[in-house]
Amino acid sequence: MRFSVVGGEGFDQGTDALVCLMAKDEKNEQLENILGDALASLRERKVFEGKEGQVSVLPAPDGGGAPKFVILAGLGDEASPESVRCASALAARRARAESLKSVAVSASTTGNGFEAREAAQAIVEGVGLGLYRMGKYKSGDNDEKNEVSRVVLCGGRGRNLSAMRRGVRYGRALCEGTNYARDLINTPSNEKRPPALADMARAMARREGLKCRVLDEKQMARMKMGALLSVNRGSSEPPRMVVLEYRPEGARSQKPIAFVGKGVTFDTGGISIKPSGGLELMTTDMSGAAAVLGAMLAVARSKPRVPVIGVTGLVENMVDGDATRPGDIVRSMKGTTIEIHNTDAEGRLVLADALHYTREKYKPQCMIDLATLTGACMVALGQKVTGMYGTHDELLGRVRDLGERTGDRVWHMPLFPEYGEAMKGKLADMCNISGARWGGANTAAAFLQHFADETPWVHLDIAGPSHTGKADPYRPEGGTGVGVRILAELAMGWKRLTPQEGKAYGC
Ligand code: BES
Ligand code: ZN
Ligand code: ZN
Repeated sequence: MRFSVVGGEGFDQGTDALVCLMAKDEKNEQLENILGDALASLRERKVFEGKEGQVSVLPAPDGGGAPKFVILAGLGDEASPESVRCASALAARRARAESLKSVAVSASTTGNGFEAREAAQAIVEGVGLGLYRMGKYKSGDNDEKNEVSRVVLCGGRGRNLSAMRRGVRYGRALCEGTNYARDLINTPSNEKRPPALADMARAMARREGLKCRVLDEKQMARMKMGALLSVNRGSSEPPRMVVLEYRPEGARSQKPIAFVGKGVTFDTGGISIKPSGGLELMTTDMSGAAAVLGAMLAVARSKPRVPVIGVTGLVENMVDGDATRPGDIVRSMKGTTIEIHNTDAEGRLVLADALHYTREKYKPQCMIDLATLTGACMVALGQKVTGMYGTHDELLGRVRDLGERTGDRVWHMPLFPEYGEAMKGKLADMCNISGARWGGANTAAAFLQHFADETPWVHLDIAGPSHTGKADPYRPEGGTGVGVRILAELAMGWKRLTPQEGKAYGC
């Protein structure tokens, strides 16, 4: 898809359609002049009043370079990055459904509330994320081959076009990162077993100019990553750990920020096997790793000033004569011994070693991990909200604010000391599940806290929002790529953290 930026209102761009994003009861004289009574009539009949979610397509009168259709999309009460993303996505999807190939989007009125760069970024995110689909497993020619291939953003008279171009460039990087993560999540597990997924990450790193290191089973065994390795014992394929590095010129000596992802390419539950209903969704249990890889792609293209490390632990949790048994005790890279009482609580074992490795090797300024960690987090927050935990108030605040800004909503959850107490082992130092029935997302987070140790850390439990069975305006069914834009935006706006005085709230 090609994006460009021009001045004017977009009536003369020779596109198949002109998209007008309109707030509730917004007046647009120029549009009224062109469409005559049609606009007022739509409003009267309550077909289009600028409400959120409303989209209407109208034929446009002929004229030099005039669009064939006008697509109206409602912003609701006011233009915000989220309402612009949603309206742009719905308009773009409507254009595609009508087999239209090129659209101009009028950005002149969206933005009375916010600046040109941000408005352009939000339009690109809406279009780029809303039009995502993974068609490669469908054979033959069908409707799903129609694509919108050209999008022209029109800045009106007053808009700063170079600021809009910056917004377009950055918005594209965020879409490409998110859609890359979605592709990985939507790839079936038979095509993304750990070595294959590591190869895909390596190929991406090469294309994007990122440094890439892939640790194999022997190297991980030498580093004594007993927790991570125990999860993969039932698999007929070996595990991998992929480490990507982004180092900007002139910041070589600065400590990096680190993103760490759970990459369980399929989670059967292991010997503590899961019930069969819905098991096919466990192909998405590598969404944390996908978010980290997608964020690294977005980082490589948007070039923040801070170095960034992306670490993913890739394993397959299978059932086998050699699989880890409930009751087994393993030793993590940190030296902590862990009793495995439930082989389905495997993500925390992968992250225990991935977090410790990242901390030891890179001494990062902070670590953010993402994982489809617990069903309990979905019980607490529903399917659309990420559970956020952490040990550094300022970092937690930044991630919470980015959750609001990006539309990938997060909610701060507690790490009270009793959750850590509940993870103590009987024979070993720790147990991989708590004895208590309740608060499973919190006790899982407390387990991770032990391995994040003193490094400022945030954990995002994305079990709910990692995939969706029902499309949102800019999240088609399947993997959502949740977290990619939060991570990339965190890197882009990075400022040094002030050291935490005392414990974080709730720790
Ligand atoms: N991958 C699952 C969590 C999950 C569940 C993600 C549903 C997405 C949708 C994780 O490995 C798991 O099985 N967790 C267990 C932990 C329990 C055994 C303590 C869970 O949540 O049931
Ligand atoms: Zn599991
Ligand atoms: Zn899992």
